[in-house]
Amino acid sequence: MHDNVYTISVIPGDGIGNEVVPQGLRVLDAVSALYGFKLNYRHYDWSCERYKATGKMMPDDGISQLRDSDAVFLGAVGFPGVPDHISLWNLLIPIRREFDQYVNLRPVRLLPGVPSPLANKQAHEIDFWIVRENTEGEYSQVGGRMFAGTEHEFVTQEAIFTRRGTDRILRYAFDLAVRLERNHVTSATKSNGIFHSMPFWDERYAVVAADYPQVRADQYHIDILAARFVMSPERFDVVVGSNLFGDILSDLGPGITGTIAVAPSANINPERKHPSMFEPVHGSAPDIAGQGIANPIGQIWSAAMMLDHLGQADAAACVMRAIEQTLAAPDRRVTKDLGGSASTAELGDDILSRIG
Ligand code: NAI
Ligand code: MG
Repeated sequence: MHDNVYTISVIPGDGIGNEVVPQGLRVLDAVSALYGFKLNYRHYDWSCERYKATGKMMPDDGISQLRDSDAVFLGAVGFPGVPDHISLWNLLIPIRREFDQYVNLRPVRLLPGVPSPLANKQAHEIDFWIVRENTEGEYSQVGGRMFAGTEHEFVTQEAIFTRRGTDRILRYAFDLAVRLERNHVTSATKSNGIFHSMPFWDERYAVVAADYPQVRADQYHIDILAARFVMSPERFDVVVGSNLFGDILSDLGPGITGTIAVAPSANINPERKHPSMFEPVHGSAPDIAGQGIANPIGQIWSAAMMLDHLGQADAAACVMRAIEQTLAAPDRRVTKDLGGSASTAELGDDILSRIG
């Protein structure tokens, strides 16, 4: 990246990915013109459609085609007709692993005009970040099965926690808390039940926390932490968890803020050796795909996270203001999932009209 010119690899993927990504690009074009930078897009049709036609989700050199871009902007991957493990392991997982996107970052924020399933919560009372470890931990291929099909059948599944992998995700969480001026990190643990890995996680948490004396560091076992997400979400600022705990919490988070359709996420390589990837939390929504009624806000918010990552914080803030103004407007035009009757493009229009 140089002179405010960025190369963005765009992968709409499947289903409503093809409907919400164009709205994200419209918003990106509008703010880049306003804030004086340029985005060059490279479009890729990598998807289940492509798999059905060619037997491959992406070409063999797919990863190297993306390698020199500044970011990947993704819609959703997976569609009936292609097993989810094929679409996941042949497109999303290779991108996350090859580009060492070891941070999965999700904001959990209750937006104005989006009712929370929790009683009496107002906009901004829920406002925190989940930092999930994205490359190791419980999701490993280490283990095996013996005596299959007999009474003595057994399986083992090993969780992998390296000092490097643990320290770097914990450090990212503390750095984020400092950068956001929130100065509070909560660790998800289970060291009372899991004998080796979680005591190790706690140990490293204490070591890393010692480098950030200005940051309040607390920790909860995952079970009570899940309950506190529901009972007192206002107490959190940055929550850090292993791959499995982070996975669960990062769906529970958007759950308490009303709808996954508006939730964004980022897969980040903090060292910027490789591109990071920005995508909504939701999937390809086969049940509504092709109808033009998908909510594009999760995709547009993901675009704002991408702008922030690229160093265009003012443009990112402008997009967030436009989303919030749209949702808060008495005459808002929103999609069916939010109780309106607007199309994907009409909600996109409304957000665009509030930019600049
Ligand atoms: P989903 O998120 O696609 O849909 C769940 C429900 O939420 C559906 O009723 C859908 O209509 C609704 N919904 C989702 N996004 C919406 C939006 N923007 N506006 C309005 N309503 C929305 O999850 P599901 O059905 O479990 O998965 C469908 C496919 O997507 C599967 O193949 C799955 O593997 C894939 N998927 C991909 C993800 C990714 O690319 N990172 C994440 C989650 C699922
Ligand atoms: Mg999940």
